[in-house]
Amino acid sequence: MSSNIKYLLITVLLAASSTLRAQTKTGGYYTEPYRPQIHFSPEAHWMNDPNGMVYYKGIYHLFYQYYPNGTKWGPMHWGHATSKDLIHWQHQPIALYPDSLGYIFSGSAVVDVNNTSGFGKNGKTPIVAIFTHHDPKGEKAGINTFKNQSIAYSLDAGKTWTKYANNPVLKNPGIKDFRDPKVSWYEAGKKWIMTLATLDHITFYSSRNLKDWTKESEFGKEFGAHGGVWECPDLFPLSYNGKKVWILIVNLNPGGPNGGSATQYFTGDFDGHTFTPYQTDTRWIDYGPDEYAGITYSNTGDRKIFLGWMSNWQYAQKVPTEKWRSAMTIPRDLKLEKVGEKYLVTSHPVKELNVIETKPVTLTNITASNYNLTTKTGKLTGPASLSFTSDKLEPFTVTLSNNAGEKIVIGYDKAANNYFIDRTSSGKVDFEKGFAARHTAPRFSTAAKMDMTLIIDNASVELFADNGLSVMTEIFFPNSLFSDINIQSDSNFKIKSLKFNRMKSIWR
Ligand code: FRU
Repeated sequence: MSSNIKYLLITVLLAASSTLRAQTKTGGYYTEPYRPQIHFSPEAHWMNDPNGMVYYKGIYHLFYQYYPNGTKWGPMHWGHATSKDLIHWQHQPIALYPDSLGYIFSGSAVVDVNNTSGFGKNGKTPIVAIFTHHDPKGEKAGINTFKNQSIAYSLDAGKTWTKYANNPVLKNPGIKDFRDPKVSWYEAGKKWIMTLATLDHITFYSSRNLKDWTKESEFGKEFGAHGGVWECPDLFPLSYNGKKVWILIVNLNPGGPNGGSATQYFTGDFDGHTFTPYQTDTRWIDYGPDEYAGITYSNTGDRKIFLGWMSNWQYAQKVPTEKWRSAMTIPRDLKLEKVGEKYLVTSHPVKELNVIETKPVTLTNITASNYNLTTKTGKLTGPASLSFTSDKLEPFTVTLSNNAGEKIVIGYDKAANNYFIDRTSSGKVDFEKGFAARHTAPRFSTAAKMDMTLIIDNASVELFADNGLSVMTEIFFPNSLFSDINIQSDSNFKIKSLKFNRMKSIWR
């Protein structure tokens, strides 16, 4: 090859690939300290809630609260990424920019198959985004009505967006916290339902065309946790043995079970007008401190795929990453289980994760008194999943540690009957008082046998126990990667089978 052609080839490659562009700047794409390898994070700058999650024509769209000019929260845009498999993501241009009505806060997107909105032209199906316009001028002026609901549509399968000329479509009745519309099609009533967070309760609205909205009912002032503001709701049915149960998700900040922000849910009935709860207790989708603003994809049929922001408003703006802030959780399938008389929501890492799995190490019949797993699997050098089962749950710990003695301890406490994750000595912890802590999740299963799956990334662990009944998400910042896994029990905890699987980075 002549040197001229070589030069041309290199130039073309450099111009075509943002990956290579970033590599020349940083010495490696997505290789910074604490950069998640199997989770979505923006290339740079600030991200919070997942928004507008919609599946259309083989593509999963992920929009997200994004501030492209800094690593702290700022005027909100909708960033955009797409995926064919829910695992590998391609960054897309920003979808929605702030405008004269304000910043673009959280919301959802629907495929308007029947063109109820009339936005469809020449047989093109519109995707409609429904979001909160947050007017910073109104906020400054101290009026209550600075948050209103608006819409935008796309006629090219989510690539580009046009805001509706008559925004907002739902005006604020005088409630300061009036936001995060989650819209879904209610087939039985042939109408759209908007589930909206309105300070300390949910307000349901309905519409035939996504433009004119009528108030249906309110729910929740006397139910659930109220340690903070209700945000980012979701409403959808799940089935258990043919029984349909409606799930109402309500994110709460602060007031979570382990402090700060968290995702609670209610089980009940929904008849197109009102939500009637089955339960009087408070339940959480994820008991860890680092899953927030989680809601589900639309247009995925009976499958309900949940994704949350992997951080907590208590310290999200202080975590020690330099170039970007925050990642999303692993996508999870939500299902229903019955324990006693209660219907409980379970979470399961999506099966699509198998596209990044490598050859697993499987072991059987381990007595876990001080068992150094990495002598069998080799050291941790990046993301991995670890799953194990036991016929009889007894107290145990799984410790991830590095040479500096920093560690994260995951385990089961029999006296309290809870699972826990302790990040007290996990490395950098002093950017926020209270970050160094031990967190717990109740055990809901009453069976003797147990199973646990840990999804481990460079700066996070997600715990799914008892077929997804107890879930915790936790972030951490060790000074060097955790390399060792040690399983310990003083109570003769026996592991029946164990599977360790290194995972390939989704960014290479
Ligand atoms: C939740 C939230 C939403 C709001 C958005 C603003 O984390 O506070 O209620 O729409 O973030 O970025």
